[in-house]
Amino acid sequence: MNASSLDMAAAEALFAFWRDAGVDACFEDEPVDRTIFVAPVAAKGPATITPLRAPGAAPSLDEAAAEARRLAAGAATLDELAEAIAAFEGCPLRAMGARQAVFARGNPQGSLMIIGEGPGAEEDVRGQPFVGQAGQLLDRILTAAGLLDETFITNTVFWKTPGNRAPTPQEQAACAPFVERAATLLKPKAVLLVGASAAKAVLKTDDGIMRIRGQRREWRLSEGGTAAPAIATLHPAFLLRQPQAKGLVWKDILDLSVRLRSEVVEPGA
Ligand code: URA
Repeated sequence: MNASSLDMAAAEALFAFWRDAGVDACFEDEPVDRTIFVAPVAAKGPATITPLRAPGAAPSLDEAAAEARRLAAGAATLDELAEAIAAFEGCPLRAMGARQAVFARGNPQGSLMIIGEGPGAEEDVRGQPFVGQAGQLLDRILTAAGLLDETFITNTVFWKTPGNRAPTPQEQAACAPFVERAATLLKPKAVLLVGASAAKAVLKTDDGIMRIRGQRREWRLSEGGTAAPAIATLHPAFLLRQPQAKGLVWKDILDLSVRLRSEVVEPGA
């Protein structure tokens, strides 16, 4: 083995070590805290001049949310919504190593909308939510409950997070208008929120998932009206680590299924 193949072996070992530790994206030499939204820099001169944004600075949270609302409102179908999301540059996660926007999969006429936390590494590669190990478990649960064909699945954010960390409230807020528009277009009979991060973001609560799971809540859209009854449950990734908690999720799903069936059979009841 010569010196350069030794170097290569050392580099490969180092990359494997980083990968196993969850490092899946590279940035600049100096760390940048991209969870902070940089406010536009005020221009010098009379106050009447519109503030300028520093070159390269991220849009403020308000600007990002306004742009998301504008794009979302222009989408008349779920396909158009997927295009609007792909064109949206206001979510900071876009610049953090994600390959593509991951919006939704499932039945676009489904009566059940599922909202998870955000895409992981596998979803980032395949462009569809919940297709990794956790997603496969979720599909098995939905199949057993007879709900898979009625389900439309999305997430609170549409780009993977670095190292599979939970999305920040700011990242979720930037994407929220699209999630709400999806609910408006889909008109689900019920919404299932999987995991604490989705439950907190959608229900706007700080209550823990163990406290709120299984309770019937109302999802109030920010721009008025109510989307649908929402129920939170544990995330399938948690079930992979704690299989003894599967019974709780099964109970939540069966409750949901009974409600869905009675509401499907007797609309307006
Ligand atoms: N976990 C989620 O919350 N969403 C996905 O799409 C995949 C894993």
